[in-house]
Amino acid sequence: MTRQPKLLAFSGSLRKNSLNSLLVQVTAAGAAQAGAEVTTLHLKDFPMPLYDQDWFDEHGFPESVLKLKGLMKAADGFLIASPEYNGSLTGALKNMIDWVSRAEEGEAPLALSCFVGKTAAIMATSPGGLGGLRGLNHLRQILEGVGVLVIPAQQAVPGAFQVFNESGHLTNDVQRQSILDLGATLAQTTGKLI
Ligand code: FNR
Repeated sequence: MTRQPKLLAFSGSLRKNSLNSLLVQVTAAGAAQAGAEVTTLHLKDFPMPLYDQDWFDEHGFPESVLKLKGLMKAADGFLIASPEYNGSLTGALKNMIDWVSRAEEGEAPLALSCFVGKTAAIMATSPGGLGGLRGLNHLRQILEGVGVLVIPAQQAVPGAFQVFNESGHLTNDVQRQSILDLGATLAQTTGKLI
């Protein structure tokens, strides 16, 4: 490891009591224990309209997008917990990816400056029996398409309403360790690449 890897952790949910936001915090703790510097953010703090090219041509980037893109550019990798909406990722997460994929002034049109050369670990939790696994397949494909190295390990945690206690703690020790390990794996992999 040449320097401490910088990771950004967030979920694809805008919900205040998001279970995926709880999940990503566990992975973030695992990555921090493995030596990464982890910053956790909430997409709700970066409000942005639905990407509409006409709107973009008139107004340019919202401040929130520039701020988020700046944070993503400064990171080496991402820990992303993605709720499954109708078998896919959330519209909010896809919309965010679309916004930050657009080139800023001075960047080549296909620079994908906040994605290319970065790593990611993806995870999900949902009340269903597959734990949001179907959405992860789509998210993996999208991230790889914009140049992110998504590590093979991933986690989908079923029974989301039962696995966290009232304090938001993931109660099953074996499950918790797997989620911590996912964060540690991303930290270690990223550390070898930077
Ligand atoms: C869902 N949910 C859901 N769950 C699932 O396992 N598979 C699915 O396809 C869907 N589809 C879906 C669509 C929409 C529009 C909503 C609002 C919800 C349930 C979803 O997993 C649940 O609401 C989670 O709690 C969402 O994650 P957060 O917000 O708690 O992180």
